[in-house]
Amino acid sequence: MLCEKENNELFVRKISSDSDYNKRLKIQAKKQVEYSNPNIRVPKVLNSGINEDGLFFFDMEYIQGITMSEYIKTIEIGKVRSICKNIVTNIVSIDSNETEVTECVFKNKIKSLKRKLQSKNNPVIDEAIGLLNKHSWKRFNKTQCHGDLTLENIIIKDNQLYLIDFLDSFYDSWIMDISTIMQDVQTMWSYRHEKEIDINTKLRLLVFRDILMDTVRSVSPKDYIEVYYALLLKLIRIFPYTKDEETYEFLNTKTKSVIEIIKEIEICEH
Ligand SMILES: Nc1ncnc2c1ncn2[C@@H]1O[C@H](COP(=O)(O)OP(=O)(O)OP(=O)(O)O)[C@@H](O)[C@H]1O
Ligand SMILES: [Mg+2]
Repeated sequence: MLCEKENNELFVRKISSDSDYNKRLKIQAKKQVEYSNPNIRVPKVLNSGINEDGLFFFDMEYIQGITMSEYIKTIEIGKVRSICKNIVTNIVSIDSNETEVTECVFKNKIKSLKRKLQSKNNPVIDEAIGLLNKHSWKRFNKTQCHGDLTLENIIIKDNQLYLIDFLDSFYDSWIMDISTIMQDVQTMWSYRHEKEIDINTKLRLLVFRDILMDTVRSVSPKDYIEVYYALLLKLIRIFPYTKDEETYEFLNTKTKSVIEIIKEIEICEH
């Protein structure tokens, strides 16, 4: 909700939709307060509490800008590189300490997905689960992570990026954040309901995807493929929630293409 203070200053109030969601919205506010980055900002959290209906709310600075999902539709192609560079260089955290603990979290997640999806009898899902199962997730170190870094949750104002709508996720890693952007620019997930994506938007999304991944490759070459594995896991996690045929088919096609990309990268690497 866009609200106004007595001094006419605007602020945004986010209220939990029901009391069961209070805990998650509280985590969201906490993540936003604690987020620290030298070049990427978050709206300042001004106040929080429980309202008269027992719902958690928090107030934050109103950023009068434009979401990246809107901005990308008309962005000058020349500006894409600096935005991608800004995002990647500021969220990538290179840490060579590979951990076994991480491996375990991912293996358990994949195991439970396999159980949930067995009844679908879908060879694409089976192949994806097979790939995810034999992948080593050791490079996924715990780092600061937004949790739902879609283009809608990035606001740009005067060339400054702001992140909103943080989310708790099963695992916090910058690789997961980049893969969420990829879900928008590679699979064009947010545009799945549109009959035809405007050709200019499509072109810009593809340029964004290529430059984003080129930047990942130049900053941390070993993590290039990891982003695609994270994306594959992300897509597979949506399957249990799909209710209509159209979304299922869309997801299936996109999953297939990510599997092909992973195979291609692996062939090139060996
Ligand atoms: N602090 C803010 N300043 C300016 N605009 C904002 C701000 N917070 C949210 N918005 C606008 O409102 C939209 C929805 O906000 P937000 O992403 O937090 O909620 P949501 O996507 O509905 O939440 P959820 O995914 O948690 O249900 C944003 O895409 C953005 O356009
Ligand atoms: Mg949002």
